[in-house]
Amino acid sequence: MSQALKFNDIHYSYPGTGGNEVLRGVCFTVGNGEKVALLGLNGAGKSTLLLHTNGLLLPDSGTVEIDGLTLTKKTVDEARRKVGMVFQNADDQLFSPTVYDDVAFGPQMMNLSREEVDKRVNEALDAIGATKLIDRPTNRLSGGERRMVAVATVLSMRPSIMVLDEPTSYLDLRAEKALSEILAGLPHAMLLATHNLQLARQLCTRAILLADGKVVFDGPTDEAVDRLEKSV
Ligand SMILES: Nc1ncnc2c1ncn2[C@@H]1O[C@H](COP(=O)(O)OP(=O)(O)OP(=O)(O)O)[C@@H](O)[C@H]1O
Ligand SMILES: [Mg+2]
Repeated sequence: MSQALKFNDIHYSYPGTGGNEVLRGVCFTVGNGEKVALLGLNGAGKSTLLLHTNGLLLPDSGTVEIDGLTLTKKTVDEARRKVGMVFQNADDQLFSPTVYDDVAFGPQMMNLSREEVDKRVNEALDAIGATKLIDRPTNRLSGGERRMVAVATVLSMRPSIMVLDEPTSYLDLRAEKALSEILAGLPHAMLLATHNLQLARQLCTRAILLADGKVVFDGPTDEAVDRLEKSV
């Protein structure tokens, strides 16, 4: 059976940086239904790596596989349907007049019937306990509500893997706890980049530690956190 996600020797440098690599041979896999934390100091390359999971960035060399599908310019549309990316800033994710429209957008792009779209929207909002927000204008939600709705926009696509970049930033303690419980209850494979070590511990038994664009540890989250703390 294929893995939910496979990074195979990813090298990447941003254009115009003189070939200065920010990812230097990243290799790891995330199994189906497995939740993995991606830890590392500021600038380690976490967000850059996450942007490779849905083809927003393509590697200079190496391959990314989603659910057995190798990501190329040709397969990027298909791959994107399998990857639910939750960006650090919910404003990058929510752009429609209402919550319904935002959560329906992905399924509509998949040309599903109106009934199927409605079903998916209700299912996604129900999963995050936000059914009551369905008709609210997106731009009048609180920061925490926006983050929850951003998660719903991804769930409605029924992705094979969820990729989350700092999902708890800007959340208060109650919203953070609620989101953590929701994510823990979802069956999806997840790759979660975060500085929230408590969240990483709660949600993921395995963590990858990234430093200067390289995997320096892949194993139990407690051990990864210890190593990270000792490295500063
Ligand atoms: N668009 C860009 N152009 C050039 N360099 C970039 C760009 N985006 C990020 N970088 C550089 O790439 C490196 C990795 O950045 P990245 O955002 O992936 O780190 P990160 O691990 O997500 O950090 P943080 O914890 O601060 O979010 C940094 O040195 C950063 O300055
Ligand atoms: Mg980042």
